[in-house]
Amino acid sequence: MSTDYRVIIGDSRRMSEVTDDSVHLTVTSPPYPMVSIWDDFFAEASAKSYDEMHEYLNETWEEIERVLVPGGIACINIGDATRTSNGIFHLYPNHSRIIENFEKLRFVTLPYVLWKKPTNRPHYKGKGAFLGSGFLPPNAYVTLDMEYILIFRKGAPRSFPPKDQRRYESKFTKKERDEWFSQVWNIPGARQDLAGLERRVAAFPEEIPRRLIRMFSILGDTVLDPFLGSGTTLKVAMGLDRKFVGYEKLPQLTEIIKSRIRSTHKEVMFSEQGQVIKELVG
Ligand SMILES: C[S@@+](CC[C@H](N)C(=O)[O-])C[C@H]1O[C@@H](n2cnc3c(N)ncnc32)[C@H](O)[C@@H]1O
Repeated sequence: MSTDYRVIIGDSRRMSEVTDDSVHLTVTSPPYPMVSIWDDFFAEASAKSYDEMHEYLNETWEEIERVLVPGGIACINIGDATRTSNGIFHLYPNHSRIIENFEKLRFVTLPYVLWKKPTNRPHYKGKGAFLGSGFLPPNAYVTLDMEYILIFRKGAPRSFPPKDQRRYESKFTKKERDEWFSQVWNIPGARQDLAGLERRVAAFPEEIPRRLIRMFSILGDTVLDPFLGSGTTLKVAMGLDRKFVGYEKLPQLTEIIKSRIRSTHKEVMFSEQGQVIKELVG
């Protein structure tokens, strides 16, 4: 039985199934602190404040530090958030808090990508759209139409023997390099016509993990997504001949993940945290 692709239904704050220094690349988008669709989730975890939410995420960042190989890379897709509290509209800069927290874990911060999504509308007084009076200065707000893809490395770069075959076979073209290594990515969001749980997980489009996996790992490497959601990173990693391990806390997403990967016709090992293998999907 192959263990090349593993999904663990459980909490990535304790990735006991993943050994130290065994993952080459992490690609993930965490639940976003202060975004209203996640309020219930964080209320369940009794962690309502911005600080507490980042402390929650930080436990997974610590685990990423443990499981990455030296020189391994973590790519975190995160948006900032806005809230009106006590009548005052303001920004919660999730990206800067995550950079601080990764630096405390002694990661090397690398230049990040700004993912521009053509979806959000401008704000006026926090109401979500420009009204007629939004043409008058000075009380309108800049639109949050970018998300961040933060990039961190565990220590010094990985080293490879000269002419390493797997590395050379993983190379990108000049066109890919010029586009992928520029700072702004114009990529439409994932399908917005989803309903229920699928919509709630806020899936990223496949193009995001596809680029990141090609940019920051080589064929045969192991990719981790500790907040797997609907399984986008798993599906893309399978298509790019990388190994994969992922965690998702909500058991209700199991069927959605399975349906995402059915077309690959490859075996994926699903298990519950701390338990033996439950079933296989082929
Ligand atoms: C923003 S979604 C990820 C979406 C994913 N990138 C996709 O394309 O479908 C975040 C996911 O993290 C899960 N989650 C939150 N806390 C978790 C934890 N401690 N361990 C594992 N999964 C968690 C949520 O249930 C949610 O499905």
